[in-house]
Amino acid sequence: VNEIVVSCSAGEYPIRFGELGDAFLPEPENAFVVTDRHVDSAWGHAMPSHAPRLVLEPGEASKSLKVFGDVHDWLLSLGADRKSTILAVGGGVIGDLAGFVAATYMRGVRCVQVPTTLLAQVDSSVGGKVAIDIPDGKNVVGAFAPPSEVWISCETLTTLPERQFINGMAEVIKYGLIADPTLDAHLSSHTWSANEPDLPSIVRRCVDLKRDVVERDEFDLNGLRATLNFGHTVGHALEAALRYEGLLHGEAIAIGMIVETRVAERIGFAHAGLAHEVAERIRRVGLPTTHELLSQPDTLIPLMRKDKKSEGGSIAMSLIAKIGECKLIPSVPDSDVVAALTGL
Ligand SMILES: NC(=O)c1ccc[n+]([C@@H]2O[C@H](COP(=O)([O-])OP(=O)(O)OC[C@H]3O[C@@H](n4cnc5c(N)ncnc54)[C@H](O)[C@@H]3O)[C@@H](O)[C@H]2O)c1
Ligand SMILES: [Zn+2]
Repeated sequence: VNEIVVSCSAGEYPIRFGELGDAFLPEPENAFVVTDRHVDSAWGHAMPSHAPRLVLEPGEASKSLKVFGDVHDWLLSLGADRKSTILAVGGGVIGDLAGFVAATYMRGVRCVQVPTTLLAQVDSSVGGKVAIDIPDGKNVVGAFAPPSEVWISCETLTTLPERQFINGMAEVIKYGLIADPTLDAHLSSHTWSANEPDLPSIVRRCVDLKRDVVERDEFDLNGLRATLNFGHTVGHALEAALRYEGLLHGEAIAIGMIVETRVAERIGFAHAGLAHEVAERIRRVGLPTTHELLSQPDTLIPLMRKDKKSEGGSIAMSLIAKIGECKLIPSVPDSDVVAALTGL
């Protein structure tokens, strides 16, 4: 069977690969579909026609306390009960929101994740983290709540806007850089698009790498899960400084991976030239390699200190020592970060 099984403290759940229509077979009785308008226009025809469907506005703004409450109201008004199943069909926004609703509605109901963006397929749908945002912080309210099943259908990626596809490639490249030199080499040998026949095997490989990490550090405690955060100390600071407008997450972490590898070189953790190699991979898929905000370390450094990996006020980064090897460094000198940001 084409599936990967993830073990977690709550038990285990399968990640299955196949056509979208098969995700809903057998159609669970008592199922409730949560999706967004873009996904509904493109793939609504493949969703179960008898299940009630809530179509939300696309975008991060839907990961709010307000919409979180609205989804609960909707479920209750339609008589959803503890035996109901939520089908979360969409990108990471829908997955995080509907996954968190599933964790809390009547103290928890089943949730099938059907990720429809590359980013959601290789990252957010796997690992059990679900959350919503509050005005002053992203993913502040949430839970560890593993799905009951994940269904990945790469055909859904054919309707994804190109920028969103490329955005997901940043996380794909990240997996090669932090954990898999073979994947890294494979990525450089193709031009990637939703129609590339090798894409499903790449997605599968990324999912399996994430499975391995989250199984060994389910609750983000021993530094291993933090390696998935390579590029994210700088990336999150960029996103926050731009108030989550302007750069998509993958674009921000792409720039972050380059800057952080410059830090790794400076502190002698990585060999000279590695940041250049990282930048080549980023450029190759059409992701940005720099941003004007990098010249403003006074804006970015305080945001990096607020990173969830940071302890005791110093800047923490998950850095690569070479391709395929990553480690959480709890404290990197500010001066090296400033120099790496500004390219000094
Ligand atoms: N839980 C986790 O571990 C985790 C990990 C990474 C990211 N996230 C979260 O994921 C979110 C970002 O996810 P995303 O990048 O998937 O963004 P998204 O859900 O906003 O989707 C991006 C855009 O693509 C559209 N779309 C989705 N699937 C489509 C399809 N098949 N065809 C056409 N359009 C489609 C959406 O409507 C949206 O406009 C963030 O909120 C982030 O915090 C969570
Ligand atoms: Zn990420």
